[in-house]
Amino acid sequence: MCGIVGYVGPKAATPLLVAGLRKLEYRGYDSAGLAVTDGGRMQVVRCRGKLSGLEDLVAREPPPGSVGVGHTRWATHGRPSEINAHPHKTGSVAVVHNGIIENHLALRARLEAAGRKFSSETDTEIAAHLIDEALLAGAPSLVAAVRTALAQVEGAYALAVVSEKHPGQIVAAKVASPLCIGLGKGETFLASDVPAFLEHTREVIFLDEGDVAEITSAGIKLTSLDGTPVDRPAKTITWDAAAAEKGGYPHFMLKEIHEQPRAIADTLRARLLLEKHDADLDGFEIDARALRRVVLLACGTSYHAGLVGKFLIEGAARVPCEVDLASEFRYRDPVIGPGDLVIAISQSGETADTLAAVKEARARGARVLAICNVVDSAIPRSSHGSLYTHAGPEIGVASTKCFTAQLAALALVAIHLGRRTGTLTPDAAAKLTTEFAGIPHKMVETLEGLGDMAAFAQDYKDARDFLFLGRGTNYPIALEGALKLKEISYIHAEGYAAGEMKHGPIALVDDGVPVVVLAPKGPGYEKVLSNLAEVKARNGHVIAVATKGDTEIAGLCERVLYIPEAPAALQPFLTVLPLQLMSYAIALAKGNDVDQPRNLAKSVTVE
Ligand code: F6R
Repeated sequence: MCGIVGYVGPKAATPLLVAGLRKLEYRGYDSAGLAVTDGGRMQVVRCRGKLSGLEDLVAREPPPGSVGVGHTRWATHGRPSEINAHPHKTGSVAVVHNGIIENHLALRARLEAAGRKFSSETDTEIAAHLIDEALLAGAPSLVAAVRTALAQVEGAYALAVVSEKHPGQIVAAKVASPLCIGLGKGETFLASDVPAFLEHTREVIFLDEGDVAEITSAGIKLTSLDGTPVDRPAKTITWDAAAAEKGGYPHFMLKEIHEQPRAIADTLRARLLLEKHDADLDGFEIDARALRRVVLLACGTSYHAGLVGKFLIEGAARVPCEVDLASEFRYRDPVIGPGDLVIAISQSGETADTLAAVKEARARGARVLAICNVVDSAIPRSSHGSLYTHAGPEIGVASTKCFTAQLAALALVAIHLGRRTGTLTPDAAAKLTTEFAGIPHKMVETLEGLGDMAAFAQDYKDARDFLFLGRGTNYPIALEGALKLKEISYIHAEGYAAGEMKHGPIALVDDGVPVVVLAPKGPGYEKVLSNLAEVKARNGHVIAVATKGDTEIAGLCERVLYIPEAPAALQPFLTVLPLQLMSYAIALAKGNDVDQPRNLAKSVTVE
C-alpha cells in the first residue's frame, strides 16, 4: 500500500525516482507522482493510473534537478485521481505520505478556519499545510517545521518532504509505515522498501518508530520526533532484488501470512473505538430499527469469512443473518428487498459472481455494503458504501491476509450493529473491543510459536486425503483450512462441522487419513474432544489446534499446534494461522508453485 522513493545526489533525480517506483509496484497503487527540485524551483508531475502514464508525462518534459521524491498511491482517503495523487504541494513544500492521519478531520477544520484552501480529498495535504504553516511562522529549518507539524498529527505514517526554500535535502519521518535509507557514494536514497535502490547501494539504514531523517547527498542526520539524536547502524543487504521484493521471504504467501498482525491492526485503526466501546464503519450508518436481516454474499475464502461473520453479527446484534454463495444467490430468485442489508465480501472487488449478486440485491431494493481490499474496484463502486480492508496488496493466489482482514471488518460491523440494536451492552462491548485490540499481538505470538513447519510437512505430504473438523466459529475455519490445503498442495481435503462426523464422514477415517481438529478452549470444547476420540478409535491421525496450556489434549493426539487463549468470537483469527502455515509447508514439501497454484487466478472475473 503506497510506495515512497527519494533521491539526493549529483545525478538527474527523475529517472532514478521512476525506476525506484517501478520496483515498488508490487505494493499495489492506483496513481503516481513525483516532485523534483532544481535549486529554488520545484516541478510536480502526477497522474492517475499506472506508472507508464507518469513515464509518458516526464518523458515529454523531464523535470530537471537532482533532489526529489516520488510516490505510488493506493487510495484510502479520497478516490484515485490526479488531484489526490501525491506529492501534495503547498507553498514551498511538497509531501509524499504513506499511512493514515487519524485526526485529519479536526486538523482540516482548523486549517480551513485559518483561511487555508485545500485542493484534494486526502489526509496527506494536511501535512503539507502544517509544514508550510510552520515555515511561515518562522521555523528555523525544514526539519524544525516537520517536527512542529508532526507534533499535531495522530496516526501511522511515513512521509518525505522537499522544499523550494531548502534545496539539497529531503526530510523524512516514520511512525509505523516502513522507510529505509540507502547510503551511496556521494548520493543518498530513500524508499519504502529496499528493492527501490538495491541496484545503487546495499548499505541500508532501516528507520524505526518516531525517527526523523535529514537526508543530503553526504548521508543522513537522524533524530527522534522531539529532536534527540538517534544512532542506527547501517546494514549490508545480501539478498538479490527478487527476494527483497518479498521482504526476504521465499514466497509471497509466507510473507503475507506473517503480515497478518499488521493487516489486522491497519484494518482496525481509527475504526475500533476503544474509549467508546464501539466501531466506526467509515461513516456508513445503519438504521438498526429498520433492519430486517443481514445477508452476506461472497465466494470461496471470502465466503468462509462470511460464515464467521454470521456468528459475530448474530452474536452481537441478534439480527438474523444469512450467508450465501454469490454464485447461487444470483440465479435463485432470492427473497431480498428493502430492510435487508447485504454485505458483499470480496478481496479483489472484481469477482464476477459477487458483482452480479450485488447488482441483483440493489435492483431488489436492498442496501449494500462492500467489504473489499481494492479501493475503487467494481464491487465497492456498485455498492452504497464500502469498508475497505487494509491488508495491502495480496500477491499469493491463495488468500491469507485478506481473509483475516475480512474477519476484522466483519467484527467491526458486528460491534457497530450490536451497539445500535442495544444487544451488545456497554460492558460486553468494552470486553470485546479490548480483546479485539489485542488480537494482532496474539497473532504474532501464534506465528512465532508455530515457527517453520517444514519437519511437520514431511510427515503428512504424502497423505491422499485430509479431514478438518471444527465447531461454532471454528467450523468455517475447518472449511478454510481444507480449501487452503487443496488449493496449493493438491491434496484432497474436506472440512466438516465436527458434530456432522458421525453422520457420514467418519466412514472415511482410517490410518491413512490425517484429521485436523480445531479444539481451542471455549464453548463446545468437551464435545470436540468426544469427536476427537471417535477419530482416534478408528486409527485416524489426529492433529489438534488447541489452547496453550491444554495438557489434556496432547495425550489424545499425534500433534498439537498451540494458539493463545481467546474468546470464541475471536478465535478464528488465531486458529486459521496454523492451517495456513501447514498448507504452505506441505505444498512446499511437494515441490508445488506455492504463489501461483495450477488452474487458479487471483481475480475471478468470469462466471
Ligand atoms: C482462495 C481464494 C478464493 C477467493 C474467491 C473470491 O484462496 O482466494 O477462494 O476468495 O475467488 O475472490 P474475492 O474475494 O476476490 O471475491
